[in-house]
Amino acid sequence: MKREIVKRVLFIASLFVFFAFAFPTWEIPEKYQKVKNPYPDKGLETGQKIYKKTCAVCHLADGKGNDVITPVDFTEDDFQKQSDGTLFYKISEGRKGTAMKAYGDDYPEKKVWYLVNYLRSFQKKNQSSD
Ligand code: HEC
Repeated sequence: MKREIVKRVLFIASLFVFFAFAFPTWEIPEKYQKVKNPYPDKGLETGQKIYKKTCAVCHLADGKGNDVITPVDFTEDDFQKQSDGTLFYKISEGRKGTAMKAYGDDYPEKKVWYLVNYLRSFQKKNQSSD
């Protein structure tokens, strides 16, 4: 009887683990999502320098990413629709269990914001002429 319960609990637990891997979410604390960018549009040159030196290895110079390392594509709307605060959080904290490390350990906040601003430059320019 007890064994059955243990089995069931283990089964349910394994489902959680499975779904966590199959449909990973990157939890962003709400207070970060809403943080205002203190340096909007600033530091693009610095951002670009750091990006080329540090980030392009995985995310490539065009921001579309090395498919083997990451499916992330900075030119996609799904990426760009995230708030500045969310991107700031992701760059600062990184994601455990992936190659994306916590760059907040390497760069002061100001430079992380510059990186956020630089990532915006990958946004698909509005091609239509309206
Ligand atoms: C060693 C490889 C590697 C390097 C270097 C790297 N990243 Fe990443 N990055 C990743 C991977 C892998 C992910 C996807 C993590 C996941 O969600 O599985 C990621 C995800 C991200 C995301 C979130 C993407 C999304 O869809 O929301 C941002 C933003 C990001 N990286 C920015 C940077 C910046 C800025 C730098 C440089 C300071 C950098 N990364 C350096 C591997 C890297």
